[in-house]
Amino acid sequence: FLNVEEIELPAAFDAHVHLRDSEMAQLVTPTVRMGGVNQVYVMPNLVPPITTVEQCLAYRARLEAIEPNVEFLMSLYLHESITPEVIREAKKAGIVGVKSYPAGVTTNSSSGVINYETFYPIFAEMEKQDMVLNLHGEVPSNPSHAYSDSTKDSQAITILNAEPAFLPTLKSLHATFPKLRIILEHCSTALALNTVLSLGPTVSGTLTAHHLSLTIDDWAGDPYCFCKPVAKTPEDRDALLAAIVSPSNNGKLFLGTDSAPHAREKKRGEDKVAAGVFTQPYAVAYVLDALEAGVERRVVRAQDVTRERLEGFFGVWGRSFYKVQDKKGERIVLRRKQGKVADILRKEGLAPEVVPFRRGEETWSVSW
Ligand code: NCD
Ligand code: DOR
Ligand code: ZN
Ligand code: ZN
Repeated sequence: FLNVEEIELPAAFDAHVHLRDSEMAQLVTPTVRMGGVNQVYVMPNLVPPITTVEQCLAYRARLEAIEPNVEFLMSLYLHESITPEVIREAKKAGIVGVKSYPAGVTTNSSSGVINYETFYPIFAEMEKQDMVLNLHGEVPSNPSHAYSDSTKDSQAITILNAEPAFLPTLKSLHATFPKLRIILEHCSTALALNTVLSLGPTVSGTLTAHHLSLTIDDWAGDPYCFCKPVAKTPEDRDALLAAIVSPSNNGKLFLGTDSAPHAREKKRGEDKVAAGVFTQPYAVAYVLDALEAGVERRVVRAQDVTRERLEGFFGVWGRSFYKVQDKKGERIVLRRKQGKVADILRKEGLAPEVVPFRRGEETWSVSW
């Protein structure tokens, strides 16, 4: 199916985007449609994080003013100030879910979660209100101290095992709140995939575009390939790639790019490198490129890349989990080798400049 010059698909749903605010939002929000996407689920990790219904609705209005032709599904940032009452109010206001960041793991997560049990009353109310819990599934690094957990042997945590070490928490949240819709965001390991697939229909996983092509060697030394969770082994990458078109994925895995723009000086300079790969303007195209490379490496079977599974991964499965539709039924056309990734995204009058993933390379073009 991929072996054609042109593919027409429904406009995609990106179930995990960082659109930031102010000038950065003005720069990156117009690139959502460039990537072939017309509906997005927006992350709340602004500074300060979005923790109230009022802030969230005002943020949505700012995004809509920038790009009226994208539908923005909104989330709150899990925080101690959120009460069951806030959850009920959020549901009434049309807010779709709550994102949980473990404290200290990634960009703007200093006010994140330390102990999940503290939030059980919130999760119980979310389950009742049929809201979505989005998990950044990593345990904070603790390389010098043994990490102890009753379900496994004591183990030091680094960015390489932070996701596998989180999986017992995913399982216990699902066991405690079986009807709560939970997404393990940006799955980066074969073990995470297998865990999501082993759990009930209320648990799904998102996959980014960049984790379908990157491995450890790519980000070691290249800040534009560095994100959290970090890309793992070639075997993990190939498992992600194979899973998105596997007949046995049960529609539980779908696109959530985790496109995370950072101004270029946050990526190269004297300070620590900011985590995040910017993929928004080429979201669908990068996935097709990764699938083609997977077919070439023989880790994806060409006959598995069917129209039904591409449409599933790019929208049908995610929209179904989120219980939303593309009301406009828009379509996109992708053309092989007709696109080129920009060297940099910049706009007259806006200060931030962002370097996209795979800058300068050839890819599929998208037209509407
Ligand atoms: C961006 C950053 O710091 O690079 N914001 C963020 O990470 N939350 C935005 C910017 O620089 O404008
Ligand atoms: O690499 C990442 N960047 N991972 C995240 O979870 C957050 C994101 C960001 O906001 O920059
Ligand atoms: Zn995350
Ligand atoms: Zn993210």
